[in-house]
Amino acid sequence: MTWLITGGAGYIGSHVVKSMTEAGERVVVLDDLSTGDPARVPAGVPLERGTVLDRAFLDRVLAEHRVRGIVHLAAKKAVGESVERPLHYYRENVTGLQVLLEAAAAAGVDSFLFSSSASVYGMPDTDLVTEDTPCAPLSPYGETKVAGEWMVRSVGRAHSMATACLRYFNVAGTAAPELADTGVFNLVPMVFQRLDAGQPPLVFGDDYATPDGTCVRDYIHVADLADAHLAAARRLAELAAAGDHRDLTLNIGRGEGVSVREMMDLIREVTGRPVEPEVTARRPGDPAQVVASADRISAELGWKARHDVRSMIASAWAAHTGAAVQPAE
Ligand code: WQD
Repeated sequence: MTWLITGGAGYIGSHVVKSMTEAGERVVVLDDLSTGDPARVPAGVPLERGTVLDRAFLDRVLAEHRVRGIVHLAAKKAVGESVERPLHYYRENVTGLQVLLEAAAAAGVDSFLFSSSASVYGMPDTDLVTEDTPCAPLSPYGETKVAGEWMVRSVGRAHSMATACLRYFNVAGTAAPELADTGVFNLVPMVFQRLDAGQPPLVFGDDYATPDGTCVRDYIHVADLADAHLAAARRLAELAAAGDHRDLTLNIGRGEGVSVREMMDLIREVTGRPVEPEVTARRPGDPAQVVASADRISAELGWKARHDVRSMIASAWAAHTGAAVQPAE
């Protein structure tokens, strides 16, 4: 069967393309190239340039490539920008998803995988976040992911699709230098940017109720995340073939908390640079701790993360400095 991967020219999407093609799946990439880069799409994988808001374009792509399953990653993902431009986020992430689901239902697509986020949980008041932890997003970005999940589940039930909503925790690292994250929105690239500029990295608050006072997150290597998509896509295809149109909602994390201070120490070790972080004010809206329970995904898909935080930082740093990246195997 052929899978359409929307956002397949982006940082995460291109890793999903890599995992799925290397495992022998046939894929087509759809990307509007607003932030994606066509150089990330491997030779031999068709790239359809356009937006998920364009129904006629989607109808043509789904029919021409005989698409049976969709992995939908195309979306806006900057939390701060979503606060400034909520309508833009709702249009791209919610209306775009609606148009894509309309086209998918009309084309008889039977498997649909949706890229969701730990941001659906907001400020969780628990050590380990399970999929049953209530959703309470704190930003328009997180709201669009909650609304997206609702839409995906309802449409799956009504239109005979097996569906999965994958809630990513903090994604880092790269499997190949040309697929690296070029945005500077998250901790690791933000620290690298400060090091490049000869400035001390910033720690946003060290007075949280955590062991060392800095925020704790669950970092996941993008290669592991991509493999989770492959496992979920295959599971959906099996379910759909058996006429089982259930929906899966799965955290993708390692189940291990790492503090900002621990990240800084690891970045110092891996890069060999003098990382002397400067503590600054808390960033508004940052929860103290967000760590996944990864039990459900391991039970459902037999998936487990293989890469540790050091390998996330090492691969990102190698790509950043132009050094060879160790293969993700
Ligand atoms: C991690 C920790 C910062 C930079 C966001 C989204 C979330 C998801 C992943 C998409 C925090 C601290 C950061 C710096 C710092 N995205 N930090 N100094 O905020 O956990 O999650 O990205 O789905 O929805 O909210 O990620 O990488 O920005 O920050 O101290 O220079 O590092 O305060 O505790 P975050 P992040």
